[in-house]
Amino acid sequence: MATTAPTGSPLSQPSLTQPPPPRKLTTVKVLSESPGLSSIPSIYTFPKQTYHEPVSDTKEPIPTIDFSLLTSSHPDQRSKTIRELGIACRDWGFFMVTNHGVPERMMKAIIEVCREFFELPEEEKRGIGGKHVLDPIRSGTSFNESVDEILCWRDYVKIFQHPEFHSPNKPPSFREIALEYSKRVRLVAREIIRGISESLGLEKDYIDETLNLENGLQLIAANLYPPCPQPELAMGLPPHSDHGLLTLLIQNQIGGLQVQHKGKWVNIDPIPNSFLANIGDHIEILSNGKYKSVLHRAVVNNRDVRISIAVPHGPALDAIVSPAPKLVEIVGNPPAYGAMKYKEYLELQQGSMLNGKSSLERIRNGV
Ligand code: OGA
Ligand code: NI
Repeated sequence: MATTAPTGSPLSQPSLTQPPPPRKLTTVKVLSESPGLSSIPSIYTFPKQTYHEPVSDTKEPIPTIDFSLLTSSHPDQRSKTIRELGIACRDWGFFMVTNHGVPERMMKAIIEVCREFFELPEEEKRGIGGKHVLDPIRSGTSFNESVDEILCWRDYVKIFQHPEFHSPNKPPSFREIALEYSKRVRLVAREIIRGISESLGLEKDYIDETLNLENGLQLIAANLYPPCPQPELAMGLPPHSDHGLLTLLIQNQIGGLQVQHKGKWVNIDPIPNSFLANIGDHIEILSNGKYKSVLHRAVVNNRDVRISIAVPHGPALDAIVSPAPKLVEIVGNPPAYGAMKYKEYLELQQGSMLNGKSSLERIRNGV
């Protein structure tokens, strides 16, 4: 088997006196390219009962928000779109964004340059960035190599884009493409967040100003899901909600994302030239639970390499997030979540195993 046995696996013999040696995992890319690989190592096997429930055959399409109407100078069009945005956030937490103005060539370029990054020699990738959640560049495999009990069939690179821009030096064109892409996507995200703010009955700039989005955290999180010989046993990313406020995701036209809707998993088909948007835990906190961050996961397949580029947008790292007082008063119920600095939440969520909405549960009041 290509990985060393982690603590707690049946293959390791944890000693009572010595700490376990740090794991050095090979990437899933290398593993998937092993000649004649026909089954997956047991450390990649997720328990069937909890992770492989049937997928809904619902044909209910996820909502679509036409971004050009959100920025329309016709007040009627804008308010209609804001109502639709509010319904999408309330009922799904996920929606497509069309007519966003980010050129298709930029979307293709970022996917291709991330593919080139993953194709760099393994020794080079290993030397890039750090391992801590707040390191501006982090590259690796699974979700959190040091704590994951079951490994995800996924390699990743996460790069902070804002308020400070970072880029790996290789591939050489990464910097320019990432800078352009993240700038354009940030404009779209901030405008959608303004719309979300208004849809909650708050001032248009309430979220932007309260959470200091001028210095908001934005990263590029690129995911590589190589073909898997036993896709029904593995998981690209197990069910989770995203930290932050709004994630905008694109992919290389290979499906794999599933969203939980009305208690069932729903396949989300890629639609060219659009973003898949989802609200994160901090919109749930700020809205005092009116909008819920939604569970989603990535499944894998045995044929195609899947690449997705998620761009999460969060508050400024030092911003303290709590339910908006206006929403708490109007609804007449107490704040459902405790106040917490975004940075601390990020360390909590990214430093743990990916486990549903367990990080958010920890700051919920009265549960
Ligand atoms: C993520 C994520 C889903 C996908 O990166 O947080 O949910 O389809 N990705 O890759
Ligand atoms: Ni996610």
